[in-house]
Amino acid sequence: MATSIHSLNLILSSAGETELFGYTIGRLLHRGEVLALIGELGAGKTALVRGIVAGLDAPAASVTSPTFLIVHEYQGRLPIVHIDWYRLQRLEETESIGLADYLTEETVVAIEWADRFPQLLPEDRLEVEIAHRTRTTRRARVEARGPRSRLLLARIRKMIRPVPQSARPRLRDARKTSPR
Ligand SMILES: Nc1ncnc2c1ncn2[C@@H]1O[C@H](COP(=O)(O)OP(=O)(O)OP(=O)(O)O)[C@@H](O)[C@H]1O
Ligand SMILES: [Mg+2]
Repeated sequence: MATSIHSLNLILSSAGETELFGYTIGRLLHRGEVLALIGELGAGKTALVRGIVAGLDAPAASVTSPTFLIVHEYQGRLPIVHIDWYRLQRLEETESIGLADYLTEETVVAIEWADRFPQLLPEDRLEVEIAHRTRTTRRARVEARGPRSRLLLARIRKMIRPVPQSARPRLRDARKTSPR
């Protein structure tokens, strides 16, 4: 099944489209959602976060992968913290970051390489798995695991414009003005 109530599959046909998808998510965040980002090196996790941060009306130009033990925090319509577990080897290292401190009602948390320590993730999270397809296209699978994430996914789904006769859902441009 291509898409179930709690999951969504889509093709992201350029880096810009991945950012736009992030932007769409950012616009729709309510508060305190956890976004677990999964995918190989260069899949587009950081590109997605750049869009999410922009969608929260925070300055996104400087969004890069956080380095070892550093968490990037941005303040927009909601606070968002950007975490990267790529270089973390042991569970104790993640504890020194204090993920639990960020799991507040308000703060949005986006974690790259979230599958490294699934035991640390809250049950209610939106998982976004991005996989290479061609050099410039990616396949994304979005899965809601919990009530808060399901609400977010339902809002995301409304922004996806399905193309008749095609398995390829398209993104509706959530921007107020389109610079393209
Ligand atoms: N459809 C696409 N979506 C996202 N990125 C794309 C796409 N097509 C090409 N790219 C390129 O792939 C790269 C993605 O880089 P990005 O840093 O976002 O990946 P990442 O998943 O965060 O990697 P890392 O695990 O190293 O942090 C960028 O250079 C981007 O231009
Ligand atoms: Mg990255």
